[in-house]
Amino acid sequence: VVDIKSGPTEGLDKVGQNLVVKGWVRTLRVQSSVTFIEINDGSCLSNMQCVMDSDAEGYDQVETGLITTGASIWVQGVVVKSQGSKQKVELKVKKIVLVGKSDNSYPMQKKRASREFLRTKAHLRPRTNTFGAVARVRNALAYATHRFFQENGFVWVSSPIITASDCEGAGEQFCVTTLIPNSHETTDSPIDAIPKLNDKLIDWSQDFFGKPAFLTVSGQLNAETYATALSDVYTFGPTFRAENSNTSRHLAEFWMIEPELAFADLNDDMACATAYLQYVVRYILDNCKEDMDFFNTWIEKGIIDRLSDVADKDFVQVTYTEAIDLLLGAKKKFEYPVKWGCDLQSEHERYITEEAFGGCPDIKAFYMRLNDDGKTVAAMDMLVPRIGELIGGSQREERLELLEARLDDLKLNKDAYWWYLDLRRYGSVPHAGFGLGFERLVQFATGMDNIRDVIPFPRTPGSAEF
Ligand code: 4AD
Ligand code: MG
Repeated sequence: VVDIKSGPTEGLDKVGQNLVVKGWVRTLRVQSSVTFIEINDGSCLSNMQCVMDSDAEGYDQVETGLITTGASIWVQGVVVKSQGSKQKVELKVKKIVLVGKSDNSYPMQKKRASREFLRTKAHLRPRTNTFGAVARVRNALAYATHRFFQENGFVWVSSPIITASDCEGAGEQFCVTTLIPNSHETTDSPIDAIPKLNDKLIDWSQDFFGKPAFLTVSGQLNAETYATALSDVYTFGPTFRAENSNTSRHLAEFWMIEPELAFADLNDDMACATAYLQYVVRYILDNCKEDMDFFNTWIEKGIIDRLSDVADKDFVQVTYTEAIDLLLGAKKKFEYPVKWGCDLQSEHERYITEEAFGGCPDIKAFYMRLNDDGKTVAAMDMLVPRIGELIGGSQREERLELLEARLDDLKLNKDAYWWYLDLRRYGSVPHAGFGLGFERLVQFATGMDNIRDVIPFPRTPGSAEF
C-alpha cells in the first residue's frame, strides 16, 4: 500500500493500518529518544511525518548519518494519531530502507530558496512545495482541457511542429537545420563555437532536406483544415516564437490550445472561450483543493475568491473602439501613446483589466474576417488581470477573393498558402477559433509571477540547458 495523504484534514480513517511509503526525505530531526522524518512522494503537497524509535529496523542508517535530506527511502509502519498540530496522523515506523543516498551538496535544503536560484536547478525544483503544486495544477488544467472539449464533441487534432508556413505572418519563426550523421564534409559553420555537435557534422546549406522549414508558431491553419471536415476540433501542443523578449509572460517555446469551430462566428467563438475558461477554473477549484489553498496562502492572497468569480460571473465585453475610448479617456499617462488603429501594449491591457475591466483585440492577422465596415476585423482577445492577453481569437476570412486580396496587401506569398486557399474553394464555411497560451493560464490559475516557473523546462533567450 502506498498512501501518503497525511495533510492536516486527512488520514484519520487510516489509523491502525500498516503502510509502506516510498518517497524523498524532506526533513530529518534526530532527537535523543525519537527521530522525525518527513517524506514526500509528490502525490500531494503534505508530507508524511514518520516517527521512529531506535529499535526500528534500519535505524542504524539514521544513526550513522546515511539517511539525509534528499535521499530516497521507503518506510513501513502503522498509521497512528499524531501528537503534532500540523497533521492528524503520522507513521510509526517499523522498518526503514535507504534506496538512494543524497550527499550534503544537495541544493534543496529546507531553507527557502529564491525562484531565480531554483531556475538554475530545474532538474531538482519539482521537489519543492511550490513547483510540486504547480506541476499538479498544470496537469489538472491539461486534463480538464481535454475533458471540456471531449464532452462538447470536439476532436483533438495533432498539428505539425515542423512547417513551411508562417501562421501569424510575423516572421518570428525558428529555422530547422539538418544534422548530417557521419558525413565527413561540411560547409563552414556560421557559429564557430559549434562546428560539430555530438560528432555529427552540420551541413549549413541544408534546411529541411533541402527545403526551408520552421518550427510552428501556431497550429491554427492546420486546425482549420480539420474543422472544415470534422466540424469542431482543437489542438493542444507546443508552439515556438523567436521573439527575443525577456518578459515574465513570454517563452520561446510554449503550449497552445487552439479550438476551431465550423459554422461559427465571433460570438460563438467568445462563448466557447468563456465556457472553456470557466470549466477549467472550476475544475481545479474542485479537484486541487490542497494545492490551491497553498497558492492562496503563499503565492497570491485571495486567488481562490478571484478564480471563483471567474468561474461564476459573466465576462465584460468591449469593442476595440470602446477600449481605445477608455484608454483615451484615462487620466493615466501611457508610455506608448494611444490612437485608434494601434496595437495595444501590455500597459494598456493592464489598465483595461485592472483599472477599467474587459477585453479587446490586437492588430489584425491576414486570416481574420473583414467586418462590413471594411476596416475592422472580427477578432477578440481575452484579457485577464495580471497576465494581460490570455486568449487571441477571430472569425476567419472564409471568402476566397477577400482572403487573396488581404494576402496581396500584406505582401505574403499566395502560392505558399495554396492549400489554405483551397479550403475557401471547396465548401467554404464561416468558422472561428482562438488560441490560448497554456502557461499564461497556469500563471493565472496559480498566481505565479513568472512564466518561467509554470513550465518544467522554460525556453527563453539563452536558456535551453535542461
Ligand atoms: O495571439 P496569438 O499570437 O494568436 C495566434 O497564434 C492565433 N493563431 C491563435 C488562433 O486563433 N488559433 O497567440 C495566442 C495566445 C496568446 O493570447 C497568448 O496567450 C499565447 O498564445 N502566447 C504566448 N504565450 C507564451 N509565450 C509567448 N511568446 C506567447 N505568444 C503568444
Ligand atoms: Mg494575440
